[in-house]
Amino acid sequence: MQRREFIKMCAATAAFAAPDAFAAKDLKPRFYSRTQLVDEQERPLKIARLVVGENYIFHYPFEGTPCFLLNLGKPTVRDMQLKTETGSAYQWSGGVGPNNAIVGYSAICAHRMSYPTPQISFISYRDKSSASKVMRPNVIHCCSEHSEYDPASGARVVGGPALQPLCAILLEYNSKNDELYAIGTLGGEMFNAFFAKFDFKLALDYGSGMAKRQVAVRTVVKDLLQFCKQQVKC
Ligand code: FES
Repeated sequence: MQRREFIKMCAATAAFAAPDAFAAKDLKPRFYSRTQLVDEQERPLKIARLVVGENYIFHYPFEGTPCFLLNLGKPTVRDMQLKTETGSAYQWSGGVGPNNAIVGYSAICAHRMSYPTPQISFISYRDKSSASKVMRPNVIHCCSEHSEYDPASGARVVGGPALQPLCAILLEYNSKNDELYAIGTLGGEMFNAFFAKFDFKLALDYGSGMAKRQVAVRTVVKDLLQFCKQQVKC
């Protein structure tokens, strides 16, 4: 979908949503830089190379805010009605790419903001249930206190203590060259609280003041296992 069409669609969904759901508290998309997703050699990432069910990490809209990129391998729900913890309503229009199967979400857990660091990650997507059966299949699960989010329906909460969905990353897909851009967010951003809580740790991992810098032209996509040394499974 081209950028103009995408923005038009977002505007349309905000403007024509059901009155009950969107009353006076509609949450609009927030647009940041139009940032191309690239591989580790800084070549444009091709959607066809994304393995179904694999956890990919990129940083957006800031250099220290990790996001999941997932190929769910099946169509996602269209026009999902969601709410933030404070009651602001919004409509997630679905994934992009073939079958609308490609989705992006902030990887900062909406409960207590557990997030993937270069050392360890307690939060990840799994398309199969865990051996312990703690985790159901096809969810993003945070092993800190077991919040679960359904990535096929806007990362709505399907289990655990989180009170709002993961913040969605707005993606723009170019079907002519199979390339992908991040252009904004939709949902309950937690970036200010995240920077306040993890200031010291983020400075260690990304350099002083670097985590809050907005990403610009490109952002590198890595397999979660390459980005962080240890993935906690529960
Ligand atoms: S921080 Fe993720 S469930 Fe508590």
